[in-house]
Amino acid sequence: MRPPMRTLYRVPALSISILFIAVTGLISAGCRTAGAPAATAHPEASLSVTDPHSFARPGDVSVSHLSLDLNVDFERRQLSGTARLDLVNHSGAGQVILDTRELDIHKVTLQPGGAAAAYSLGDPVEFLGRRMSIDITPSTRSVTIEYGTRPAAAALQWLSAEQTAGGSHPFLLTQSEAILARTWIPLQDSPSIRFTWDATVHVPNNLLAVMSASDNPLEKNASGVYHFEMRQPVPSYLMALAVGDLSFRRLSPRSGVYAEPVVVDKAAWEFADTPKMIAAAEKLYGPYRWGRYDILVLPPSFPYGGMENPNLTFATPTVLAGDRSLVSLVAHELAHSWSGNLVTNATWNDFWLNEGFTDYFTSRIMEELYGREYSEMLAILSRQDLDDQIAELGAAHIDDTHLFLNLAGRDPDEGMNDIAYNKGYYFLRMIEEAVGRARWDEFLRTYFDTFAFHSMTTKGFESYLRTHLLVETPGLEARLNIDAWLYGPGVPPNVPVANSAAFSRVDEQLASFRSGASPSALDTHGWNTHQWVHFIRNLPTPLTQSQMAALDSAFHFTSSGNGEILDVWFEQAIHSDYRQAFPAMERFLTSIGRRKFLKPLYTELAKTPAGKEFALAVYRKARPGYHSVSRGTIDQILGVESGG
Ligand code: BES
Ligand code: ZN
Repeated sequence: MRPPMRTLYRVPALSISILFIAVTGLISAGCRTAGAPAATAHPEASLSVTDPHSFARPGDVSVSHLSLDLNVDFERRQLSGTARLDLVNHSGAGQVILDTRELDIHKVTLQPGGAAAAYSLGDPVEFLGRRMSIDITPSTRSVTIEYGTRPAAAALQWLSAEQTAGGSHPFLLTQSEAILARTWIPLQDSPSIRFTWDATVHVPNNLLAVMSASDNPLEKNASGVYHFEMRQPVPSYLMALAVGDLSFRRLSPRSGVYAEPVVVDKAAWEFADTPKMIAAAEKLYGPYRWGRYDILVLPPSFPYGGMENPNLTFATPTVLAGDRSLVSLVAHELAHSWSGNLVTNATWNDFWLNEGFTDYFTSRIMEELYGREYSEMLAILSRQDLDDQIAELGAAHIDDTHLFLNLAGRDPDEGMNDIAYNKGYYFLRMIEEAVGRARWDEFLRTYFDTFAFHSMTTKGFESYLRTHLLVETPGLEARLNIDAWLYGPGVPPNVPVANSAAFSRVDEQLASFRSGASPSALDTHGWNTHQWVHFIRNLPTPLTQSQMAALDSAFHFTSSGNGEILDVWFEQAIHSDYRQAFPAMERFLTSIGRRKFLKPLYTELAKTPAGKEFALAVYRKARPGYHSVSRGTIDQILGVESGG
């Protein structure tokens, strides 16, 4: 049973000292080598950070390396084995504190020596799980935990063969961000803590295992035993594993695609520009530091569009539109190899440092590959998302429109929203436009270099920005209104304005439609996915049945194979009560699990009694196929009792 909410406030706020930062100007970009934790050389610049979502006390004892040995049991839906955690005891502490959630702990031993250790698990706290305290001595080098996961572990999704594209082999996928790593590994689950790791994974020998690590296997082996290494220190939310009937296609010497055999060729075609994206990213902000960059296309239940697991982006198959129109997702997850994976948000309150920077970087990669015209379309869609998100949050949740969030006492997966992405993007673009691109790019390159393999707080970034960029131009800081962007609501008045001639052409056709032109008379020649999305989103609403039917017969939206188009069209269908699209909407909702697509449709359906009845009926069928992350969100929207 879950404890009452107020339990959350009894969790002591843990002060974590993270390695940090060149606010003093002591660190110059040139004095480090790639991969080395540079800021450690400047402890005088360290800053105290409180992570409200972790029990760990890394200031006392921190984990420096994790060694996993796990067996993957599809019948019992269980991972079981050992996690050995190598420790650094900073203060002679007598305990190491870990995060766990719904793990079955069997035994803990200490190394050197192998003696059994005394340990205890705290009371479960909603979202956070249970604090695990292990008694250690000053000579303890590592603790080894024998444990198993539960079938309902929130990070894990166990798919039956029927839930995969191929239909003949089961599949396991993990999703650790934000605080779900603790549901499959006992560890210090805070983005302010980094460790290296290795893993040995045992799977049925007709399946392949891949992880967020270098040197993933290219094909199955007869033993079903796979070994992985991550030699660079990473935060826990980047731990990832997938097991299934996977094959690989090479895209370039350092990149490729994994997917089920029936999907892999389509995926390789769709993502053919990946090597060019890597080159563009490196040209902008410095060398790619992780070795290989591969993409894993998952079964459709994957709850996100993409997840930036190091070396191996996890991606939804809903980006396989067949025309490469949704590949900005690859640019986004690739960009995280700098913003997020290299320089990491210190807590989930600083989430915009991951996602806002990444969306800015994505836009630059897209501009480099496909031109300014293209990236400006994405910028306008982003602005519209931002306005929609602010409207949706409303006055009651105005604080959630700040870039710097306050998520203490809340599940970060529910509290983090689109603001971090779109307002973050516009904030950084605003600075770019103020200081000029050349100077801004130089600043960002140095920033990624200086803080590579470290965490960053919003305050830390703010002061680095002031001392390393804004001071150069007198009066600049006052004009930029940084405080309003970081700590204030909504969209500050100095927001940049994006311009797109391609969207202006859509706006003209929208105007014709509004003044009575029939859909078949509109000039939509050569429109791409983004133009169609812009068109559908800006149609008047509600429309009459005959208007909807005319649009559908001219443009075949209901039978589109493109998830982005379907999503906005079905939203319009709900508003206009266009029942003809409902069977297709039901197929969509029962065949994909991407939360971004599910959430608006269930939300809009739930607004009327008839819509809600339909939504509940669909959800009853669909829910078992959704990942826990999506289930959590939709349970809330529909008021369904959670659990299972
Ligand atoms: N890191 C995020 C996904 C995420 C965010 C997982 C918060 C858990 C908590 C990933 O990089 C992302 O932003 N994915 C987007 C795609 C992107 C193209 C904007 C998504 O899933 O929609
Ligand atoms: Zn992202």
